[in-house]
Amino acid sequence: MKNIGIIGGTGYTGGELARILCKHPDIEIAAMTSRQNAGKKVSDVQTYLKGYVDLEYTEALNAKDMDLVFVATPHGIAMKETPALLEAGVKVIDMSGDYRLKDIASYKKWYGHDHTDAKHLKDAVYGMPELFRNDIKKAEMVANPGCYATATILAMAPLFSSGIVKNDVIVDAKSGTSGAGMVPSARTHHPFCGESIIPYSVGTHRHTPEIEGALNSVSKGNAEVLFTPHLLPIVRGILSTCYLTLTIEATDDDIASIYEKKYGNEPFVHFVDEPSIRAVVGSNHCQVNAKIFNGKVVAFGAIDNLVKGASGQAVQCANLMLGLKETSGIDVPGMGV
Ligand SMILES: NC(=O)c1ccc[n+]([C@@H]2O[C@H](COP(=O)([O-])OP(=O)(O)OC[C@H]3O[C@@H](n4cnc5c(N)ncnc54)[C@H](OP(=O)(O)O)[C@@H]3O)[C@@H](O)[C@H]2O)c1
Repeated sequence: MKNIGIIGGTGYTGGELARILCKHPDIEIAAMTSRQNAGKKVSDVQTYLKGYVDLEYTEALNAKDMDLVFVATPHGIAMKETPALLEAGVKVIDMSGDYRLKDIASYKKWYGHDHTDAKHLKDAVYGMPELFRNDIKKAEMVANPGCYATATILAMAPLFSSGIVKNDVIVDAKSGTSGAGMVPSARTHHPFCGESIIPYSVGTHRHTPEIEGALNSVSKGNAEVLFTPHLLPIVRGILSTCYLTLTIEATDDDIASIYEKKYGNEPFVHFVDEPSIRAVVGSNHCQVNAKIFNGKVVAFGAIDNLVKGASGQAVQCANLMLGLKETSGIDVPGMGV
């Protein structure tokens, strides 16, 4: 059995980690932290965990005897926690954006404050198994990808890695409100976002450089992404629609075979005719598709933001880092209806 800890255990991604890991055959949850609920039973706060997690929240973690810690907090925290954990020989998966960009100047530009752990920033592996599986297996520290970034990168990676599209891309992505975390805001307040759809952070969203970085790593290209996120009045799920220009003549069948070659053996990414949020919610699966129209390609990616877009993907990475079966604990289908 491997022991893990969760820093930020009361949040949406921390709770989702616990929901997945409480049934994992090879992983035991040893501790979950919360500053506001320290001393309370986990299952009194996250009542869906009653009968599954028998722990009290603690204010901090004792990393001793832990194999791996998930840091499921807002950005800016993991860079403070990570150095000591790694020093103590504990592997780390950061759910936030702290370690996703490769240089401190870019981090400051997009996150608006200094990065304090340049040392581990350069060694952190981007936790998308479909693109970086071998690096994740050897990693001590993984930067778990952003939710929008996951749907968008998986939608376009086969096109970029086969070198058949131009660098400039337009991405129109839509997310359920759980993507914003547990702290309420005016934008995610139900009377404001319910029965509506709202664009925000046009061209300035922090997942933009992350998407460009991953596409560049698989293509030697210089991807330029114009990314517009939208808030959908649903709780879970992301659909990302990406518009690209082909550099070669190709048919829908050619495109389908490129995706099949890339994802045909992947347990969690599937090329389907009509990707849908409903089909993947509650699961670690991602549905993708791409169609051609007059020299352009429209590519789609659908995920559950809390599973493949966060905690499920993090468990997939933890399985690889701990030498476990990659699909352990996350091998369930989506909800369907
Ligand atoms: N929600 C998503 O769909 C999603 C998807 C991918 C990635 N992410 C990223 O994952 C991270 C967590 O997201 P979330 O949605 O789970 O956030 P959340 O719901 O707001 O939860 C944040 C958690 O962190 C704890 N926390 C807050 N400030 C802290 C601090 N200064 N020190 C220690 N603990 C602190 C909170 O508990 P206490 O205040 O009690 O300590 C809470 O448990 C974020 O960086 C987010 O961008 C989220």
